[in-house]
Amino acid sequence: MATDSYGRRIDYLRISLTDRCNLRCVYCMPAKGVPWKPHDEILTLEEIERFAAAAVSEGISKIRLTGGEPLVRKGVVGHVRRLKALTGLEAIALTTNGTLLERYAVPLVEAGLTRVNVSIDSLDPAVFERVTRGGKLTDALAGLDAAFEAGMGPIKVNAVVVRSLEQDLLGFARMTLGRPVHVRFIEYMPVGGVGGGECEPASEGWTQADHVPADEILERLTAAGVAAGIGAPEPVQRGDAPGGWGPARYYRFPGAEGTVGVITPLSHHFCGECNRLRLTADGRLRACLFSDEEIDVRTVLREGTDSDVRDVIRAALATKPESHSMRVGTTRGMSQIGG
Ligand code: GTP
Ligand code: 5AD
Ligand code: SF4
Repeated sequence: MATDSYGRRIDYLRISLTDRCNLRCVYCMPAKGVPWKPHDEILTLEEIERFAAAAVSEGISKIRLTGGEPLVRKGVVGHVRRLKALTGLEAIALTTNGTLLERYAVPLVEAGLTRVNVSIDSLDPAVFERVTRGGKLTDALAGLDAAFEAGMGPIKVNAVVVRSLEQDLLGFARMTLGRPVHVRFIEYMPVGGVGGGECEPASEGWTQADHVPADEILERLTAAGVAAGIGAPEPVQRGDAPGGWGPARYYRFPGAEGTVGVITPLSHHFCGECNRLRLTADGRLRACLFSDEEIDVRTVLREGTDSDVRDVIRAALATKPESHSMRVGTTRGMSQIGG
C-alpha cells in the first residue's frame, strides 16, 4: 500500500494518454490550441504499460485514462486490454469528451472497460458548440447513448460550470430522471496560463467572477427542480453513491434513476482525502493538479530499470503537498495535465 508523507493512501493513478484533442474547450485550451508535444516526447503505450505495472506493484489499484482526448490515441483498445490484465489492478476507467465513444464503446467493453465519464457542459447545441469551439452536441450525446447500449456503467457526465456561459442546469437534472446517469457539476478551476508556460491564460481566462461555488449550483438546481415540479435533490449516502474514486458529493431528485453531484475543488477543497497521482502524456509524474512540481519518469523508463521506476514513484509521493494553495494558474494547461 502506498502512502504519502501525510499518511494519505494513494491507490488511484490518472494517466493522460495524449495532450491532443479533437475539441478546444474554452476553459481548457487557448483558441489556437496548444502546440502538440513532438512524438518522441510522448510515452509509447508500452512505456505507459511498464509504468502502470510498476505503479500497481507500489499499491495503485485503480487507473483512469484521460487526455487531451484519450480516444484519439491510436491503439487505445489494446492498451486497455493489456492494462486490465495487470495483476492487482482492480479497475480501469475513462474520462472522455464522448465524441468518439459511438465508435469505441463496444470494443472498450470487450477490452474490460465499463466505467466512463463523459464531458458535456451544455445540452443546448449552440452553447455546446461555443464551449467546445466547434464541437457537436449530437456527437457527445450519441457517445453517451452508445455507452449505455454497450452496457457500460457507472456512466457519469461532467459539466464544468462557468457563470458567463449561463448553462441551463435543469436539463441536466431531467437527464438523471429516466436512466442511471450521474451528472457532476464541476467548479471551474484556474488551471493553466502562468509563468510563460506552454499554455496561454486558460483561453478567455479564468476569472473569479466565472467561478460558481457548489452551494450556489445546488441552490439553483433546487429552485429549478421545484419550479419544474420534479422536486428538490436530496443528499445520497456514501454507500448509495455511484462508484467512484473522486471527490464528488451526490444528490438525487425524487424517484430519479441517476444522481446529480458536485465537485468542489475551490469552495470545499478535498485535498485531505486525495488518493491520486498523475502521469502526463510526456512522462512526468505530477503529485498535485495545482502544483507545477513534476518528476521526469520518461528518462527513467527509457534508461532505467523497473526498480528505478518504482523509486521515482516513491519520490513523487514524497513531494505530494498537503493541500493546494488556492493559487491561480499553473504552468501547464488542463489538456496537458489530464484533469
Ligand atoms: P470518479 O472516479 O468517477 O469519481 O472520477 P473523478 O472525478 O476522479 O475523475 P474525472 O476525470 O471525471 O474528473 C472530474 C473533475 O474532477 C475534473 O474537473 C478533474 O479535473 C477534477 N479532479 C480530479 N482529480 C482532482 C484533484 O485531485 N484535484 C482537483 N482539484 N480536481 C480534481
Ligand atoms: N476546471 C474544471 N474542470 C475542468 N476540466 C477541464 N478543464 C477544467 C477546468 N479548468 C474537466 C473536463 C473533464 C475533466 C477531466 O476535467 O471537462 O471533464
Ligand atoms: Fe478536449 Fe477535454 Fe480539454 Fe475539452 S476539456 S478541450 S474535450 S481535453
